[in-house]
Amino acid sequence: MLGACLPGDSTTELKEFNVPEPGYGEVLMRIKASTICGSDIRCIYHEHLGKGPEGYQGVIAGHEPCGQVIAVGPGCRSYRVGDRAIVYHISGCGLCYDCRRGYMISCTHPTLRRAYGWQRDGGMAGYMIAEEKDLVHLPDELSYADGAQVACGFGTVYEGLEKVGISGNDAVLITGLGPVGLAAASLCRKLGANQIIGVDALPERNKIAEDLKLFDEVLLAGEDNEKDIRKLTNGHGVERAVECSAHHSARNMAIRATRKWGKMVMIGEGGPMQLNPSPDMIHDQKTLYGSWVTSTWRMMELVERLVRWNLHPADLITHRFEIDQVDEAYSLMASGKCGKVAVCFDEELKL
Ligand SMILES: NC(=O)c1ccc[n+]([C@@H]2O[C@H](COP(=O)([O-])OP(=O)(O)OC[C@H]3O[C@@H](n4cnc5c(N)ncnc54)[C@H](O)[C@@H]3O)[C@@H](O)[C@H]2O)c1
Ligand SMILES: [Zn+2]
Ligand SMILES: [Zn+2]
Repeated sequence: MLGACLPGDSTTELKEFNVPEPGYGEVLMRIKASTICGSDIRCIYHEHLGKGPEGYQGVIAGHEPCGQVIAVGPGCRSYRVGDRAIVYHISGCGLCYDCRRGYMISCTHPTLRRAYGWQRDGGMAGYMIAEEKDLVHLPDELSYADGAQVACGFGTVYEGLEKVGISGNDAVLITGLGPVGLAAASLCRKLGANQIIGVDALPERNKIAEDLKLFDEVLLAGEDNEKDIRKLTNGHGVERAVECSAHHSARNMAIRATRKWGKMVMIGEGGPMQLNPSPDMIHDQKTLYGSWVTSTWRMMELVERLVRWNLHPADLITHRFEIDQVDEAYSLMASGKCGKVAVCFDEELKL
């Protein structure tokens, strides 16, 4: 099978691999959709900048895999050949405090925490080995591409939104309208947000956001953002802010555009933020959350809600590629002139 690795110089390397065999507690999956995340671009595509949990060990890339189980190893308890599954993209030890809470993302085991596409082979190949305990069933109502979007992006956003709580009481500001920011808008709609304001620095991203009709207002990043957001919210600012750009000026602006008693969640990763605690938070009684991926139980809950809401995360995919076009897929995602980018196989290529 062909698998894509990331040498760290803004290219991809396609190599021939043997189709692996599942060991104890593992399944072999036929990958159907494997999407690209902003974190791949930031940490390992341009350069291997990531350290620790974001350290890349030269494996097959892709941490947003979704596919079908085609073989099960000994000791599997629940999954069977033919099952459709999303891969929760970090395999933890299963026994530490964080793993037992379902947050294998923050597993503390020194060697057993391995993320797919970072420290163990991921989804940018026709086949992948996954541990059964890392799988979440994909219901028939959702496509494999919907599932790939849940494996990181939608799962991450849903977690962050549940932390701050979103309802019909809220005007929501979303900074950074890449796939993560777009996911935030589509989930905020379903959660009943009253007004959704988006900000991005790239006109192409703003155009995609406008075309998807997920926002009430889309603003180009600039000096006047805070003032404009106050104008749009009767002078108050937003009840909730969801930061998905990782840009320091967007972070600074978002906390200031959040109204008194409001809440902000930081999802965009890397880089600094300038925070003056007294005026920015303390005197206005604001709460700032950090949120890292999600838990396995919350991912199961999200999948159930997506079906109930008839929400299809794959609607945010603007480009689908075959595995031998993987170079084009990563360079397009790096350009930002796209929504979500997917590498697909079999029936998902034809959609
Ligand atoms: N917390 C987590 O668990 C988690 C999980 C997945 C991704 N992420 C992070 O979320 C972020 C978004 O991911 P993505 O896939 O959408 O990436 P992306 O790079 O495609 O999107 C980031 C967007 O921010 C925009 N931006 C840059 N400067 C801005 C500014 N000053 N104001 C407003 N927007 C600005 C960019 O133009 C881009 O559209 C990345 O930092 C990624 O690493 C975090
Ligand atoms: Zn990701
Ligand atoms: Zn653990």
